[in-house]
Amino acid sequence: MTVGPDTLAALLKRKDVLPAGWESVFGMVAREDFVPARIWPDDTDALLDRDRDPEGWRRAVYSDRALVTQWDDGRHTGAAAGRLATSSASMPSTLAEMLYDLDAAAGMRVLEIGTGTGYGAGLLAARGCRVTSIEVDPQLARRARENLAAAGFGELVEVVAGDGTHGHPAGGPYERVQVTAGVRRVPAAWLAQAAPGAVIVLPWGTDYASGDCALRLVVGPDRRTASGPFTLATAFMKLRAQRPDRARYGDPEPPEGWLEWIPPSSTMLGWDDVVAGPFDSVGFVLGLCVPDCVARPVLHGAHGGTLWLYGADTGRGRSIAAAEFRAWAPPAVRQSGPRRLWDEVEAAWRWWDDRGRPTIHDFGLTVSLGDDGTVRQQPWHLCAERPLIPPAHDWARIGGG
Ligand SMILES: C[S@@+](CC[C@H](N)C(=O)[O-])C[C@H]1O[C@@H](n2cnc3c(N)ncnc32)[C@H](O)[C@@H]1O
Repeated sequence: MTVGPDTLAALLKRKDVLPAGWESVFGMVAREDFVPARIWPDDTDALLDRDRDPEGWRRAVYSDRALVTQWDDGRHTGAAAGRLATSSASMPSTLAEMLYDLDAAAGMRVLEIGTGTGYGAGLLAARGCRVTSIEVDPQLARRARENLAAAGFGELVEVVAGDGTHGHPAGGPYERVQVTAGVRRVPAAWLAQAAPGAVIVLPWGTDYASGDCALRLVVGPDRRTASGPFTLATAFMKLRAQRPDRARYGDPEPPEGWLEWIPPSSTMLGWDDVVAGPFDSVGFVLGLCVPDCVARPVLHGAHGGTLWLYGADTGRGRSIAAAEFRAWAPPAVRQSGPRRLWDEVEAAWRWWDDRGRPTIHDFGLTVSLGDDGTVRQQPWHLCAERPLIPPAHDWARIGGG
């Protein structure tokens, strides 16, 4: 049997992720019209080349898989995977679930950030939306523009080559903003160019871990605030300017001899308490509660692992912690610097555990635009009126604000 758009629409229907009215849209837009000849399904090393394996390529295109289409901002050209996946056709079920949150209807003006192949913009156009889609890579933008025109959506979609964090005022005000690249700081332009009551759906996360959660923000009447819940645990390649900032966190290796000269303490927590799978709530919640910190879990074969924590250097020096979990000995915790990062993680874990281990769906974010043009991001628990105050965050001690 030949697979095609109907196969994908039926698959998404079986997974129960299709918003009402979108089955025909997924059945109408051929993903093969957007996906290039060379793809790496699911971020793996296994290149699928349409010219060598047309059947395998087609099966991948109409499966529910993310397909990497570019590595290392286009600098990597070989058959093997590159260092960093930098563009893809997103996983269709994730797109469908984000479209559910977006709730876009025919006639709406939609801003899409991260055009990629153009497939997502094609879906919105097939729904009858007027789409402005921004892609930072000019070559990808050109190809997506061509793909959309060939698929018959050229009139409904304007593809702009540029940095999506600046938006595109000429196409606004937008009733919907759909972002398909991971965000760490919501740009002011998305609020300023949205219509009052607009919905912004974006993958958002903290520096703590690489995962994201889809966030559904509703813009306030004055367009200076937007607030809403996290709806879906996911992982996106990040906005180009918001990739993990190595300069902020320093060298991922601790100073020479560090493990030997810091006396260890212990903890009642175990590896599985604080290091969960990429889509488990605990890592995301720890990230909300322990700001300006990167967590790097390192496994030591089957015998345990070390959770390394690195704090951002706020001008008072670098904070490092390592919690080592071994099968044959009690955990050993070492900490140095102006922040006690492990104590912060442990306090956050206890706060989370005391409240019955809430999931990502119990949290949300409010973003507000300051008079100086900066955007403040305030996570909350259960409702926007209950801002999440990091349980062990002693601002006076670390000199933050
Ligand atoms: C996951 S892909 C988009 C998937 C796409 N919506 C689709 O399914 O075909 C993310 C895209 O965001 C783009 N991107 C990254 N940073 C960006 C920025 N600042 N402005 C616009 N696009 C950006 C990347 O080049 C990449 O093509």
